[in-house]
Amino acid sequence: MVNVYPFNIDTAPYAALERIHGLCFTESWDEDTFEAMLTVYGTYGVAITINEALEGFVLYRQPFDDAEILTICVNPKKENQGYGSRLIKSMLHYLKKPGKCFLEVSPKNTYAVKLYEKFHFKIIHTRKDYYEIGLDAYVMMRDI
Ligand SMILES: CC(C)(COP(=O)(O)OP(=O)(O)OC[C@H]1O[C@@H](n2cnc3c(N)ncnc32)[C@H](O)[C@@H]1OP(=O)(O)O)[C@@H](O)C(=O)NCCC(=O)NCCS
Repeated sequence: MVNVYPFNIDTAPYAALERIHGLCFTESWDEDTFEAMLTVYGTYGVAITINEALEGFVLYRQPFDDAEILTICVNPKKENQGYGSRLIKSMLHYLKKPGKCFLEVSPKNTYAVKLYEKFHFKIIHTRKDYYEIGLDAYVMMRDI
């Protein structure tokens, strides 16, 4: 059974966040990093579980009107099955309106760019050498 639910600093499934993030990124975040991020005012997440096992999550920050996606990841074994879309849809539901939602993504991360475009995020800027020399970042944004 698939379950999508919001979490905050008190309810975050820290060990599972670390596990899934580690499967998706080479520079992965540990439990302490997630706790430190969730300590910052306005930081929340949405998790997706399948048969009670965490398979993906999105972490976002909305201190005032505008929001930022901090990270989103889905277990590589479960990619392209609609879970990323469910996470974005749910996050958009929880965001306070009106405002704008921003994110940064590598132009090389075509699946992520497609996911954001599907939800009407538009590329508004390219940050040169953002990730490393020669690796830019798209800044994407949509109204909420
Ligand atoms: C980006 C990510 C979260 C997408 O999650 P997902 O569960 O695969 O997303 P969805 O299944 O909802 O797919 C969203 C879109 O991505 C594209 N996509 C995803 N996987 C794909 C694949 N294997 N082949 C082709 N297109 C793919 C499709 O266009 C899809 O849209 P659709 O509904 O038109 O098919 C996931 O790939 C991931 O965790 N990547 C590693 C972490 C990462 O890079 N995060 C983003 C940092 S900015």
